[in-house]
Amino acid sequence: MHGEVTISGAKNAVLPILAATLLTAEPCVIRRVPNLSDVKFMCQILTWLGAQVRCEGDTVRVQAKKIKGAGDYDLIRKMRGSICIMGPLLGRLKKATVSLPGGCIIGARPINLHLKGFQALGARVTIEGGYVHASAKRLIGSALFLGGRAGSTVLGTANVMMAATLAEGVTVIESAACEPEVVDLANFLNAMGARITGAGGPTITMTGVKELHGAEHEVIPDRIEAATYAIAAAATNGEITLRGARADQMYAVLDKLSDAGAKIERNGSSITIGRKGRLKPVDITTLPYAGFPTDVQAQMLTLMTVTPGISIITERIFESRFMHVSELARLGADIEIEGPSAIVKGGKPLSGAPVMASDLRASAALVIAGLAACGTTQVNRVYHIDRGYENIDGKLRQLGARIERIEES
Ligand code: EPU
Repeated sequence: MHGEVTISGAKNAVLPILAATLLTAEPCVIRRVPNLSDVKFMCQILTWLGAQVRCEGDTVRVQAKKIKGAGDYDLIRKMRGSICIMGPLLGRLKKATVSLPGGCIIGARPINLHLKGFQALGARVTIEGGYVHASAKRLIGSALFLGGRAGSTVLGTANVMMAATLAEGVTVIESAACEPEVVDLANFLNAMGARITGAGGPTITMTGVKELHGAEHEVIPDRIEAATYAIAAAATNGEITLRGARADQMYAVLDKLSDAGAKIERNGSSITIGRKGRLKPVDITTLPYAGFPTDVQAQMLTLMTVTPGISIITERIFESRFMHVSELARLGADIEIEGPSAIVKGGKPLSGAPVMASDLRASAALVIAGLAACGTTQVNRVYHIDRGYENIDGKLRQLGARIERIEES
């Protein structure tokens, strides 16, 4: 594949940012919003809660003059990320009732750390009938620790940060998630009048304010989408320029790609990925930021299936995020799972077959595998991919891929 692709706004930044608009009655304008089913779904949730939401191209305008404090099961179960409405509801209304999101295909996905954070701010938290209720007469800032068994929590940090913007006094989150999406949210909250420092590091300090006001914000580019196209370039021996990508938020991925034999050139806000020569196997362990992201594990594992030699991919964030492995085996990949690791014996040519997508990043991995394989691959259940990749088939076609979307009858 050859050519240029423009990177869309980051799904995992825009979801909590849209939720944060619930913190004020004034209008907010969010730009560079990707056209994704998860974003549409978050807009539906905001509307259901009482906000006015208008989407025009990649701009979303939200005004949450009057809102209710409850999100029901049918809304929340469809998208785990919708749990991030809880912090803003608690912050603004001092009460929130949200359905427990439950697990998903990639792991158990508990929210104990979110709840621990709300409790530290003085909220009373109870779970009843599948719903979590949090309420407080006043939210009071405090020092709290958000480290868990797999490091910190991204949406937990976002949730506590959003609630604490309107708490009385100073809140300090220790072991906060350092992901760029948390920084983007903090920047938006500060534009709304919050007083947050330290986002991007493990200690975030917030001084509560009485109220927040409307603000405008442009979402950061999606580092996971950019990484996916970069890996597709390496897997197909192509050369792709990622326009508008943030290399400074992608060091772990670019470093591994370089070790694997990719040629990487940075030019302002563009990154060009090609090949230096033959691909080489690399071992990878997923970690919280700035380590290698779990959201790029499936795509990188696919690259290793077409790389001669043995590589070990270890998943440390989500316990069952290897559902793509059995589907890759259908294309001829040789992969064994040993505990949290996948041992990939790469280099055998892949051959196209029908496969089934299980989650968002697994779908992207299967699309990359299909592009690298001989023959035709049919990826079923592509609704998973539309949750997090804007117009992936159009963008890949523009890069020379032979890919078409078959609408289900
Ligand atoms: N965890 C707990 N307790 C909690 C929360 C999390 O033990 O209260 C554990 C999780 O089970 C997991 C680890 O902590 O082992 C990290 O989970 P985290 O809470 O950070 O995940 P998340 O915030 O629910 C976001 C992204 C995911 C991404 C992870 C990790 C959004 C909407 N989702 O989820 O994105 O994989 O951070 O970076 O921001 C994706 O885009 O495909 C995706 C799954």
